[in-house]
Amino acid sequence: MTGPIISPSILSADFANLGEEVRAVSEAGADWIHLDVMDGHFVPNITFGPGVVKALRPHSAKVFDVHLMIAPADPYLAAFAEAGADAISVHVEAGPHIHRSLQTILNLGKRAGIALNPGTPASAIEPLIDMVDLVLVMTVNPGFGGQSFIPSTLETIARIKAMSAGRDIDIEVDGGITPENVGLAAAAGANAFVAGNAVFKGGPAGYAERIAAIRAGA
Ligand code: DX5
Ligand code: ZN
Repeated sequence: MTGPIISPSILSADFANLGEEVRAVSEAGADWIHLDVMDGHFVPNITFGPGVVKALRPHSAKVFDVHLMIAPADPYLAAFAEAGADAISVHVEAGPHIHRSLQTILNLGKRAGIALNPGTPASAIEPLIDMVDLVLVMTVNPGFGGQSFIPSTLETIARIKAMSAGRDIDIEVDGGITPENVGLAAAAGANAFVAGNAVFKGGPAGYAERIAAIRAGA
């Protein structure tokens, strides 16, 4: 992997202008676009489904990094793949058949990601490490943007880095990432960085500068 991957989360974008927001952040230097899907069941918030992902697809050629915070996930995986997701991450906590979910994503020809909450030990994903392209370490409790980074997740990142040695796996951190703390996550082993508030807060004029600041800190 060459250099840090910055994946702005459109959860903090202007939902009345999502197409323009995705276009603006893509032109401002985003590597991936992070799309947070919430169901009001697995997490206490509701966002959007595959219809919105499909509507946004023509607005950017960047990797669509879809983070599913839904349970069950399996009935919707094909719809997200068809909508234009490039990577699909499912939570290890979201159901009893996570191996099947990852297998389904791979069979759909997409990059398979496994996500884990701050309260979940790294060991929970160990049996799955050989089948995933991406591990998404939540550095806040999922559901909302604008929360503070939880420092104990650094240990989880380091354990996953050790677990993934010799494998071509991206380790992505998600939640409370700022130019100030991104270096800690990078030092622990992360190479992909989701940022919502740290990119979108303040509006489009600052997107390029704020993405560059996160990249410089990583
Ligand atoms: C939280 C989401 C995150 C969130 C990140 O449930 O998964 O992607 O939008 O936003 P910030 O960077 O503001 O914490
Ligand atoms: Zn996310």
